[in-house]
Amino acid sequence: MKIRMLLAFGAAMSLNAANAQDVDTDAGKTLYLDVCAKCHGPTGKGLASFPKVAGQDADYISSRLEQYRAKEKVGPNSPLMIPNAVNLSDEDIANLSAHIAEDLQ
Ligand code: HEC
Repeated sequence: MKIRMLLAFGAAMSLNAANAQDVDTDAGKTLYLDVCAKCHGPTGKGLASFPKVAGQDADYISSRLEQYRAKEKVGPNSPLMIPNAVNLSDEDIANLSAHIAEDLQ
């Protein structure tokens, strides 16, 4: 657990070294299950047009979430994803990315 927290912290540091923060994978899990699981699945395996998120690294996930939060079109189905990202804080993104990268395979 300690090692996982350190890894998560490392991921957050590399996201934004000037604004280092503690990462809370449990909070990320709660948010993921509340908001994200209905499309990406509880284990992140995805389904049909909903991409698999499990197995991606934290930097990849957080940069995607930042793009969707900024309402950038990334793929053909971005309009489905953008409304779920616009209200995420930097902390939410760090927590979600750490949870997905560490807990979902
Ligand atoms: C209404 C269904 C829906 C919900 C809810 C949803 N997503 Fe998505 N998500 C999508 C779709 C559809 C895409 C693909 C969008 C595109 O084509 O650009 C996507 C793309 C993504 C990607 C990029 C995947 C890749 O391979 O590039 C990530 C990461 C992601 N979502 C994470 C999340 C997280 C975290 C949440 C919860 C905050 C969430 N999504 C909620 C539908 C959803």
